[in-house]
Amino acid sequence: MDYLQINGGKKLSGDVIISGAKNSALPIIASTILSNKEIKLTNLPNVVDIRTLLKLLTMLGGEVNHDKTTAIINNSSINNTKAVYEIVSQMRASILVLGPLLARFGECEVSLPGGCAIGQRPIDLHLKALEAMGAKIEIRGGYVRAEAPNGLIGAKIIFDKITVGGTENIIMAASLAKGVTTIINSAREPEVVQLCEMIESAGVKITGIGTSVLTIEGTDGKPLDFKDIEIIPDRIEAGTYLCAGAITNSSITLHRVNYEHIRASVSKLEEMGCSFNIDKDNITINPTEHLKAINLITTEYPGFPTDMQAQFMSVLIMANGESIIEERLFENRFMHVSELNRLGADIWLKGNIAAIRPIDKLYSADVMATDLRASSALVLAGLVADGTTNVHRIYHLDRGYDDLEGKLLKLGADIVRLKK
Ligand code: UD1
Repeated sequence: MDYLQINGGKKLSGDVIISGAKNSALPIIASTILSNKEIKLTNLPNVVDIRTLLKLLTMLGGEVNHDKTTAIINNSSINNTKAVYEIVSQMRASILVLGPLLARFGECEVSLPGGCAIGQRPIDLHLKALEAMGAKIEIRGGYVRAEAPNGLIGAKIIFDKITVGGTENIIMAASLAKGVTTIINSAREPEVVQLCEMIESAGVKITGIGTSVLTIEGTDGKPLDFKDIEIIPDRIEAGTYLCAGAITNSSITLHRVNYEHIRASVSKLEEMGCSFNIDKDNITINPTEHLKAINLITTEYPGFPTDMQAQFMSVLIMANGESIIEERLFENRFMHVSELNRLGADIWLKGNIAAIRPIDKLYSADVMATDLRASSALVLAGLVADGTTNVHRIYHLDRGYDDLEGKLLKLGADIVRLKK
């Protein structure tokens, strides 16, 4: 199994190009099921999750021509509507095929994604919304079996809780439904916006894009004809490199960034004393010797993202006072705390609140990644820990970071991928 070996203490400098957003690419790949024509996707991140979802499309009978950052997909040949456990269990986001398969074929079976390291993550809101649109849903043998033989019908959906994946599934389902669907309390993440824009450019009328109330006028079963699409920059990858600059007291310039999308992370780093130069789609973080302690709460976009919580925790270990982090989205998203404490951090945890107390230094150790963002937090800590840190179980990292060690190496980090 691969692991990363990092010799801490190196200053970083230079440039990094931000890849396309995994969390935008995934629903966009799923949405290609709504079409029976060829579509080209560019600026895909070269990560395992993308390959997993593209593999699922081929298992359904779609044709996929994939080369690192580009995929040409033609789903006119789909002849199977069962998304099997072997794929869905590898990646929870595979549940995103549920809405489009049901909308286009009137039936499908999708394995239940089950729990995951960061919490229960149920899909009840996805299912309830599809039922409101006329779907008959049954859970049997670990699968969601959904049917709507006469097509889905537009409905008024009120999400009890803001759900990114739930909003995306319903947007896709609604685009082929009969009549108008209104989604109240929808997610507003940039990834949801890009999905809406893609579907809108295929002729579906959508109002309220980027707000918490969306209305979608469905095509009554007519497949969509998409235009080619370039995936937006990954705001979480960008935030992670800004954290790398902050924790190592270095200057790093990020290219191909959408500043609007990373505003919450930038403003929290500013509160910590960091400064930035912003020029079009480039952003430079300047060296900051003394980081200030801050408090942060994870919320939905445009608030501070839960996907940046672990990386900020690593940076806050080096701040000059006690910081508090409150995790509001996932009940168990503090698995990195015990690993960071193994490196010498002093983090105290109660429920969904963590207190990060100042320390003089981190010391290297063997640590184990528990989920995608926790992995990058451990790498960040390794960049400043005294000695050689080995980060194990980096298959989590490979799911969502495009060449993290290659990009860090280019910035001057002493990092290498090894096999055990
Ligand atoms: C997406 C992102 C993930 C990010 C998360 C929150 C992708 C592929 N993944 O995940 O990186 O951390 O948004 O920003 O885009 N919930 C329910 N019932 C449901 C659905 C969700 O209770 O049916 C709860 C979840 O357990 C969680 C909260 O709602 O507590 C938000 O989850 P959701 O926004 O759905 O996250 P994902 O779409 O899975």
